Amino acid sequence: MSNYILGIESSCDDTSAAVISNNEILSNVIASQEVHKFYGGVVPELASRAHQKNIIPVVYKALHDANINKKQIKAIAFTRGPGLLGSLLVGISFAKSFALALDIPLIEVDHIQGHILAHFIKNKEEHYPKFPFLCLIVSGGHTQIAIIKDYFKMEVIGETIDDAAGEAFDKTAKIMGLPYPGGPSIEKYAINANASAYSFAKPRIKNLDFSFSGLKTSFLYFLRDNLKIDKDFIEKNRNDLCASIQNSIVTILMEKLLKASKQTGIKQIAISGGVSANKSLQNELIKAKDKYDLDIFIPKLNFSTDNAAMISIAGYFKYLNKDFTDQKATAYAKKIR
Ligand code: KG4
Ligand code: ZN
Repeated sequence: MSNYILGIESSCDDTSAAVISNNEILSNVIASQEVHKFYGGVVPELASRAHQKNIIPVVYKALHDANINKKQIKAIAFTRGPGLLGSLLVGISFAKSFALALDIPLIEVDHIQGHILAHFIKNKEEHYPKFPFLCLIVSGGHTQIAIIKDYFKMEVIGETIDDAAGEAFDKTAKIMGLPYPGGPSIEKYAINANASAYSFAKPRIKNLDFSFSGLKTSFLYFLRDNLKIDKDFIEKNRNDLCASIQNSIVTILMEKLLKASKQTGIKQIAISGGVSANKSLQNELIKAKDKYDLDIFIPKLNFSTDNAAMISIAGYFKYLNKDFTDQKATAYAKKIR
């Protein structure tokens, strides 16, 4: 029997709705908000308004693409947090009203849990992680290494003490005048460029934690000094600058991830979140797979950056446990631990 679940994600600047049937994604509609490009970053007030505008058409399209009727939905899963409050509230209010109207259960999902559980979405190879596995969660707001012990049980063993990896991409891109989001912009210019053209300050943190703010500052000062000598320095060296900064970020991430694997003895390694879409990070993980005999899990592009498919798979597992949420639930901006 099909357990159709509708997933809703609205934590940042993408309005998304997906339909899942058991563990199989039938549709995953993502409306990205172009309005923020002009400002070089997400403007929360504008994000809420765009969600308000997009939510109904996006949900309709998700139902249409999945070829199902709203009456066939068994439950509605929504992102409760973390994220921008105004954005989350749009998705939550919609989910509550729709669930009430259809008289079906509501299921709250944590955004980060969604990124992790995206690895359990049905795939052709039937290749899924087994517990416990390690997951590097790298997004615009989070950078963590966690031991995933069960669907909803994880132990964080390393995290950033300042900026997230995605923020490092976004901030350094902005310094170079590249469009938001910075990660894909940097990746685009970095293709075929020299990744060892420049080197920047490396964090000296002994445990499994990360730090990216020093790298950003070192990059800023390096450019400032060079721009004094040549005002066209960025323009002339854009590709090599992008490749070098990407290489620095990926090296920091991979060093800690491999250290975590060595320390825990866990050889199944997954990457999740927007930055896991980065080809250079993926290639380094593939190289490590062969070198250290790892079993690796890389999400498909549409399941790495923000999407509702990941919310619906997490919702599906909660549905099986009858782990429902009542109508009083409200958003949380930061992770409650
Ligand atoms: O998971 P996500 O879509 O949203 C959050 O939960 O934050 O992650 C967004 C972050 C942004 O910082 C963006 O620059 C980064 O992911 N990102 C990338 C790539 N695609 C998105 N970073 C590096 N390479 C990419 N291809
Ligand atoms: Zn995310």
